[in-house]
Parts: sequence; structure tokens; C-alpha cells
Amino acid sequence: MHIAIIMDGNGRWAALRNLNRQAGHRAGARAADAVVRAAVRQRVDTLTLYAFSCDNWFRPRPEVEALLGLLRRYLITATDRCLEESVRINVIGRRHRLNSTLKAQIEQSERLTAGCSRMHLRLAVDYSSRLSIIEAGRRLRDTPLNAPAEYLRFLAAAVHSDPVAPEVDLLIRTAGEKRLSDFLLWECAYAELLFLDCLWPDFDAAALAQALEEFSCRQRRFGRIAAVKETSEIQAWKR
Ligand code: IPE
Ligand code: IPE
Ligand code: MG
Repeated sequence: MHIAIIMDGNGRWAALRNLNRQAGHRAGARAADAVVRAAVRQRVDTLTLYAFSCDNWFRPRPEVEALLGLLRRYLITATDRCLEESVRINVIGRRHRLNSTLKAQIEQSERLTAGCSRMHLRLAVDYSSRLSIIEAGRRLRDTPLNAPAEYLRFLAAAVHSDPVAPEVDLLIRTAGEKRLSDFLLWECAYAELLFLDCLWPDFDAAALAQALEEFSCRQRRFGRIAAVKETSEIQAWKR
């Protein structure tokens, strides 16, 4: 079971409370923390959270710095707990534009949790799906591929995803927008899409449980006529 979340709506959550956008991002980070814990309890195998897109660099510099600072603090505090809960941390995206302190923290969190196997937590930072598709294509060169799924290996290598993540089963976007904003375009080919009005800081364990309930009612056909039998992973997750 791979769940991907576009955590949107921090700014609007703050505006509703007459707070600045940074306060919204702090509340968003708390929500992310709670949802990671809840996903472990729900026996999700892979959770990919969209934390910072390549296009988010175009926001005002103080906001960019606040977002990346929050990410570093999240990694510092979450790493010990992830070790206890056997969650493997992995930051996907490009790294050359991140500052050296953040890069060092990413490497440390990844190294310390490399042996964890209960859940693969991927935080997408300086991430662009289109750029990852271009980079994976460049690495492909003359390698013959027999199935689209084999391309996942190249996509994983292009964004430092270790291990390779399976395709997305459920994509959730909060805050009402109905678009993908350059997130996991290839990996979501047959994902179930769930667009919620809830603003990200208000998303919690109960909202995740409700989203999983909605997912379990969806019939996935993958182009066929009848619903395709669930994969053994999804059956195991529902038990
Ligand atoms: C999501 O919240 C956080 C990031 C994009 C990093 P926004 O900051 O996009 O919040 P809105 O969309 O302005 O409400
Ligand atoms: C997508 O949200 C990026 C993240 C959640 C990190 P945005 O708020 O940046 O997306 P747009 O601009 O509404 O498409
Ligand atoms: Mg937004």
C-alpha cells in the first residue's frame, strides 16, 4: 500500500486565524508528524509526503527558509522515533540547491534509519515529477524496458528513492485544489485520487482512517471490465 499526500492549505489555515504563513507551516509540520505515526499504525508500506516542490523556490525567501528550516527540525526530532518504530526515512528530489546543514541532516536521518523496514517514509523536497522523468530517461540510455513498471527503478534512482517505491495506490490532496502540481505523475498512473476540502493542518489520524475507508470502497479495474482482485499487500493491509 503506497499512499502519497499533497499537503496543501497551510497558508489558508493561517490566514483564517490572522496568523502569518510561517505559523501555518508550523501547524502543517505538526499534522505531518501525527499522520506519519497514524500511517505506521495503519500498516501503510510507503508514505510519500510532498513537502517542497521545485516551484516553491519562487515563494518569498523568508517563507522558503522557514519551510526548509522546519524540515530540518522535523528530521532531527523524528529520526529517533522512526528508529523506534522501524520507519525508514528517505528524502526524494534534488539535493544540490539545499544548504549543507539540511543536506547533512538528510544524510544522517537516512543513514540511521537505513535498516528500518516497517514503513518507507519518503519526503519530497525540491521535487519535480517532470524533472525526475527527464532525468530517469537520460539514465535509461539503451536499456531495453519490457514494462512501464520497470521504469520505476530509473525514477527511483533519479530522485534518491531507496528502496524503489511501488506505484501509488492512493493519492490524497488537501485544501480543495484538484491538481497534481507536478507530483508523482508517472507513479500515479492508476492511483485512486482523493481531493479533500480539509486544510492540511486540520488533517489528522481520523482523516487518514476515513481516507483509507474511502479507498477500500473503490473498485480498481486497470483497464479491464471487472474489478481486479486486490493485491496480496492490500488484502493484508485490510485484515
Ligand atoms: C502547503 O501549503 C505547503 C507547501 C506548499 C510547502 P501552502 O503554503 O501551499 O498553503 P496555501 O495553498 O497557500 O493555503
Ligand atoms: C504543492 O502545493 C506543493 C506542496 C504541497 C509541497 P502548491 O500550493 O505549491 O501547489 P499549487 O501552486 O497550488 O499548484
Ligand atoms: Mg498551496
